[in-house]
This record gives sequence, C-alpha cells and structure tokens, in this order.
Amino acid sequence: MKDKEIEKLIKEEDARQKKVVNLIASENYVSDDVLKALGTKLVNKYSEGYPGKRYYGGNSVTDKVELLCQKRALKAFKLSPAKWAVNVQALSGSPANLAVYLALVPLGGKIMGMSLPHGGHLTHGQKVSATGKFWESVLYEVNKKTEMLDYDALLKQAVEEKPNIIVAGFTAYPRKIDWKKFRAIADVCGAYLMVDMSHLAGLVAGGAYPSPFSYADVVTTTTHKTLRGPRAALIFSKIDERELGKKIDKAIFPGLQGGPHQNQIAAVAVALGEAVRPEFKKYAKQVVKNTQTLAKELGKLGWRIISGGTDSHLFLMDTWLDGKGISGKEASTRLEKEGIIVNMNTIPFDTRSPFDPSGLRIGAAAETTRGKKEGDMIKLAKRIDSILRK
Ligand SMILES: Cc1ncc(COP(=O)(O)O)c(C=O)c1O
Repeated sequence: MKDKEIEKLIKEEDARQKKVVNLIASENYVSDDVLKALGTKLVNKYSEGYPGKRYYGGNSVTDKVELLCQKRALKAFKLSPAKWAVNVQALSGSPANLAVYLALVPLGGKIMGMSLPHGGHLTHGQKVSATGKFWESVLYEVNKKTEMLDYDALLKQAVEEKPNIIVAGFTAYPRKIDWKKFRAIADVCGAYLMVDMSHLAGLVAGGAYPSPFSYADVVTTTTHKTLRGPRAALIFSKIDERELGKKIDKAIFPGLQGGPHQNQIAAVAVALGEAVRPEFKKYAKQVVKNTQTLAKELGKLGWRIISGGTDSHLFLMDTWLDGKGISGKEASTRLEKEGIIVNMNTIPFDTRSPFDPSGLRIGAAAETTRGKKEGDMIKLAKRIDSILRK
C-alpha cells in the first residue's frame, strides 16, 4: 500500500483483532474469500436500479453478481423463488429495516417492536431512531418474572394498539422466539409480521435455531453477525397479491439509496455460498453449544444469567447483582484491560443508565469461528470470573 498512514492503522487493527478474545455477540471473522470480494474492482461500478433495469450502462457483469447473490440468499434459507423474493441492495441492517417501514407502513402509521432495554433494536421504533420519529411506535417488554417474551401480554397490547406492523427478532434476547405465536398475534390485529433475524441468520441457515420463514411476511437480516459475511443486509418478502417485494425494491431504490455496493453484494454472495456447506452447519451448532456452556459456567460461578440461560449465540449477564457486584461498564473495562472484549448492556427493567448499565451482553459466534470448543468456554468462564472479582 502506498498510503503508509492508513496501512499502519489497518495493521494495528489486524493485530488487535488477533490478540483479543472477542465476545461481542454481533461480530464475527469473515473468510479470506469474503475479504477478497470486498476489495475488488466491482467497487468502481455504478449500478442504480435492478438487474436488467439499470440507469447506467456497463452493468452486464454486476447484473450477474446481483442475481447470483439473490439465488444464493434464497438457497441458504431453503426458500423457493416462486414463494419468496429478496432484495440484496440494502447497505446495512438499519436502512433495510427503514426500507420495510417505508414500503409497508404509511407515514404516521404504527410500528410495534421490542423496547431497547428489553432487547429490541433502535430501528424497531425507538424514539431516538428515525423509525420512532416518522412513525408512531408502541414498544413491548419481556415479562418481569421470567425475563422472557410474554405472548399473552403481547396479544393484549397488539389488540389495544392495532399496529400496522409487528417486529419480532431482537438484538439482545437469548431465548427461542415462537414465530408461530407472533404470526397469530399479527393476524388478530391485521398487522404485517416482520422478522428481523439479524442476530440469528447464521444459526437459522445452519439449522441451529428455528426458521421464521413459515410465519413472516417480511424477513430482514444483516449479513455480518452469525452469518459471517460482510457488513450488509438482505430483505426477504413473501410473493403474493400484496406485491411486497415490488414495494420494498422501490423503497430501497429510489426511496432511500442510490447506487448499490456491488463489491459488498459479491462478498455477501461468497458468505452465502459458505453458509450452505456442511462445515457451516457444524459451526452454527457449535456456536450454540459454546454459548450455553459459557453461560452455564458463569452462572455456576455466581453471576446471574438473564432468563436463566440461552438458546442462541448470546446471553445477558447481570454483573451488578443489586449492588453486590460491579456495573456493566466497570466489568467491560476490566475485561478489555485483560484482552477480553464484550459490550456493556442494560438488562430488562434495568434501574441504571444505558451508559453504565447493570450487565454485559456476551456472545460466542466469533470465538467459535476461531475453533473454540466447550472446554475453552469453561476456562474462559473462570478467567472472566477472576477478572470481575479482583
Ligand atoms: C436486530 C438488529 N437489527 C438491525 C441492526 C442494524 O444493523 P446495522 O448496524 O448494520 O445498521 C442490528 C445491529 O446490531 C440488530 O441487532
């Protein structure tokens, strides 16, 4: 590289990543092939529009790239092209979610999503997000006692509020989600059911978590968490008389974006190709086993695991313990000093601020990519415990 200044920083980050134990639930390590696809001359090309309908010339190759990515996206989640459409142009998860609302919810209409401190994402209608400003939003919470979803309470809230769209699939919720119950709730109040499986996509593709596709109208996902691809997003929509796909395509372009990033789309296609291999199935199952082992061991060592465990790639740990422990910020700072990277996180019904909350969110997807197994998780739990108790 001729630019020595930026080369030095890239090398520094490379070395940092190699040195640390990464327990950030939303991160992962992409393959060399994904990296190679990102750094290609596809980055030079403008391709506003969709395959066969571009506003610029010279798109004979990018058309093939985008169509291949679409084909692989459907294959990775075992979807028939006669029943599901997919848009692969969203630049990341937040614009993908915004595009769905723009397509399906009239401005001023109502989004029903999970509240942020209970595990929802910003784009599920939180007031600080555009999704909570352009649309009315009603936010649901987990049950105080079980710290899990309460489907009866959800039904009651949905019937009272009559949202246009219900969002299921979260940022910091560790347990299995009953997609079928969400479908039934959406049907009772006549809402669309949107599943945001950003966190779960790799587990769903690898058969380690229930697929939402039998129940959702629309499924969005980032491609860079458990799916182990580049930073991007996919929007799947059911094909029927409502023409959801057509509306979503229009919302992405020209509604929200200009030219898609074809190098990124090629890299997503590479990741999707990897996600259908038998090794990926093994990987997804190992992620869940590792996460469950780490949560169980930390629980045995006296840390409170929210909802009593996990069925996925992440869990929440109460480090504050009603004032008997340490805050999430202090816990994450201490761990980082010892080379373990986590993120501080609110826990449901947290009485502390999000800037210094009561807990941590911990995930094992990235370390599983590096080959870690249950035995490593047992050792890691002991190391975390001793750092937090210093
Ligand atoms: C459930 C969920 N949806 C959407 C997003 C947004 O993705 P991005 O950061 O790519 O905008 C995230 C990111 O953490 C997420 O957890």
